[in-house]
Amino acid sequence: MEIERTNLELVGREDVHDLAAVLGTVGHEEPGGRHLVEDPCPAEFTWDYEKGARPRLDRLYEKAKAAQWNARTDLDWETAVDQERLVVLSQMAGPGSLRWSPQDVAGTVLERWGDEEWLRLGMENQNWMLSQFLHGEQGALLCTAKIVETVPWIDAKYYAATQVMDEARHVEVFSRYLDEKLSGHYPINAHLGLLLDDIIGDRRWDMTYLGMQIMVEGLALAAFGFIHSMTQEPLLKQLLRYVMADEARHVAFGVLSLQEHYAQLTDAELRERQEFAFEAAVRMKDRMLMQEVWERLEVPAEDVVTVMSRAPGRDEFQVLLFSKIVPNLKKLGLLDAAGGWLREKFAEMGAIGFEDLADAAQEADAEADGSPAARNLA
Ligand SMILES: [Fe+2]
Ligand SMILES: [Fe+2]
Repeated sequence: MEIERTNLELVGREDVHDLAAVLGTVGHEEPGGRHLVEDPCPAEFTWDYEKGARPRLDRLYEKAKAAQWNARTDLDWETAVDQERLVVLSQMAGPGSLRWSPQDVAGTVLERWGDEEWLRLGMENQNWMLSQFLHGEQGALLCTAKIVETVPWIDAKYYAATQVMDEARHVEVFSRYLDEKLSGHYPINAHLGLLLDDIIGDRRWDMTYLGMQIMVEGLALAAFGFIHSMTQEPLLKQLLRYVMADEARHVAFGVLSLQEHYAQLTDAELRERQEFAFEAAVRMKDRMLMQEVWERLEVPAEDVVTVMSRAPGRDEFQVLLFSKIVPNLKKLGLLDAAGGWLREKFAEMGAIGFEDLADAAQEADAEADGSPAARNLA
């Protein structure tokens, strides 16, 4: 008989909506700025070099080779970016913008905010978000290098090697955009940091895939898509479009590889994967509180809890951010394995929706021939 693990054991708190507990987990700077994670997963050689033994992975590898682009020459880095103007424009857009009504902020320090403070919030939010994209991309770079080492199949090693190059390019573009076009950097969010450490520190090779290709990259794809559709800034728009074309392939790689591996796991092993997916989802949800921004703006924790629990559109936005993850967990059988345990957990979190979503644009990207620059994507 299976022993049910509680939320406290899985994610360190009983109520997944406990915002004060989320804020209580803080990151810390390490001496010398180095962050080391022990990797207990054995590297595996294969002597079976037969290319194309897994035809779908082989096809993805061939597509990936032709889809490379050059971050330095394919994007127009001369584009002038007026961050202040863009924030003001987005805040005038109404719902979903980071400028809340007097009722939403009543009783908190935000009540006394004027144009200047709201502008600062918008700019800090953008600096923070792009910084988290940057750190997440570095996580992907390390994770895919690890997949090259640990996955047992030659076709997957080949494919993962192309993804290492993709992720290097993504780190390059976000880093450059932050340096040249925005107004400041943030350290890695405490919850994102814990999640990346968990993924890299796991000794089972398939957990890297689940944590990175399905969870982190699935969320990134939804977030990039949202910002791509909202932003008025042409360089960011183009940059995100190119990155998304790569990410579509990465998510497809995860689904293809895990479908084969999960088919031969026991129920107990599948349940461990469900728990891992739940923990990852909670970390990603916690990250959305953008606590480092509030800290920099010196908003007290109790006020953050108040405004964030009232923030208009926050629940819908959360479902949207999980919209690429849920359909893939379903395809992998994880949503409904073990009596639908994960489905219940996602419902409790308020993250379920879009479970049968098939994204034609994303599938086309994963299957595309030629680089985004050659395809003239914008
Ligand atoms: Fe990436
Ligand atoms: Fe990726």
